[in-house]
Amino acid sequence: MKVLGIETSCDETGVAVYDTVAGLRAHALYSQIALHADYGGVVPELASRDHVRKLLPLVRQTLAEAGLAVSDLDGVAYTAGPGLVGALMVGAASGRALAWALGVPAIGVHHMEGHLLAPLLEDSHLQPPFVALLVSGGHTQLVFVQGIGRYQLLGETLDDAAGEAFDKTAKLMGLPYPGGPELARLAESGRSGLFKFSRPMTDRPGLDFSFSGLKTQVMLAWKASDQSDPTRADIARGFEDAVVETLAIKCERALDQCAAKTLFVAGGVGANTRLRERLQRMAGKRGARVCFPRPEFCTDNGAMIAFAGALRLVAGQHADASVTVHARWDMASLPAV
Ligand code: KG4
Ligand code: ZN
Repeated sequence: MKVLGIETSCDETGVAVYDTVAGLRAHALYSQIALHADYGGVVPELASRDHVRKLLPLVRQTLAEAGLAVSDLDGVAYTAGPGLVGALMVGAASGRALAWALGVPAIGVHHMEGHLLAPLLEDSHLQPPFVALLVSGGHTQLVFVQGIGRYQLLGETLDDAAGEAFDKTAKLMGLPYPGGPELARLAESGRSGLFKFSRPMTDRPGLDFSFSGLKTQVMLAWKASDQSDPTRADIARGFEDAVVETLAIKCERALDQCAAKTLFVAGGVGANTRLRERLQRMAGKRGARVCFPRPEFCTDNGAMIAFAGALRLVAGQHADASVTVHARWDMASLPAV
């Protein structure tokens, strides 16, 4: 089955074709970073309008790269939430219309399920159960995955998501939007241990997170500092160490709690090199295995949506003819596959 995947939940237009026999056939991404940079963050109305402009050319480009005609498609998957409603509507309406015209089934995919299953793009033979750490700009969750569509939330952030903390911390130290990857790059040249920030909520039982206090700690340290470039890098390193260590401690706890041997890591912060190294080390020590998507599939992309949609379409699931999107959407409410 050849499935077209469409991702338009935020500021990236992603398109891909996943073939359930041959694997990923092609994928393309258009980032709106330049469009939103002047505003220091995503402007929802501008995002929707840009998806309208870019989506169909990107679909044509992806099909051409896959060597397929539109009539070769057997199904269409689009992100139906959570995300910006206007942006989601563009992908959902286009995907639904295309499926209608082709007479093939369509399915609305949960964006976080797309992220969660992305490590399977690298190795589709991995079998649940596993623990998944989802770390994106809007979510930080630990999930026990007993099967595809069988998700139990173990813990989540009580305030800022890990990616949001990266972005806000970068902004308060004057780094350009989008700050997370910039901050991570800066931390490479920073020295570890010069600025020590707390590992929030690791001193008590449980698997929830809280990152907003960390951002305040950085703000106080930054204001009291000489605000030079080397100091900025040292603070960035201290912040990154704190987030990485906190995530690693909670992941290990979750593996213990679920008696699981496999950790999946997905979402934009999963592209962070130091987080990847730290989790590899933790897993290696306890004889467990950690699985990441390649960095370009950690951040938003069409491949993960095509893949997650294909799993559900192959199982006979599909959406009805209405165009429905969800700004918020509980992943535990998804049907099992
Ligand atoms: O999954 P994603 O692309 O979009 C959402 O669904 O939110 O995640 C974006 C988030 C942003 O907050 C961004 O700052 C963060 O992931 N991010 C990173 C890195 N690359 C992206 N955070 C830390 N280190 C990185 N290398
Ligand atoms: Zn995402």
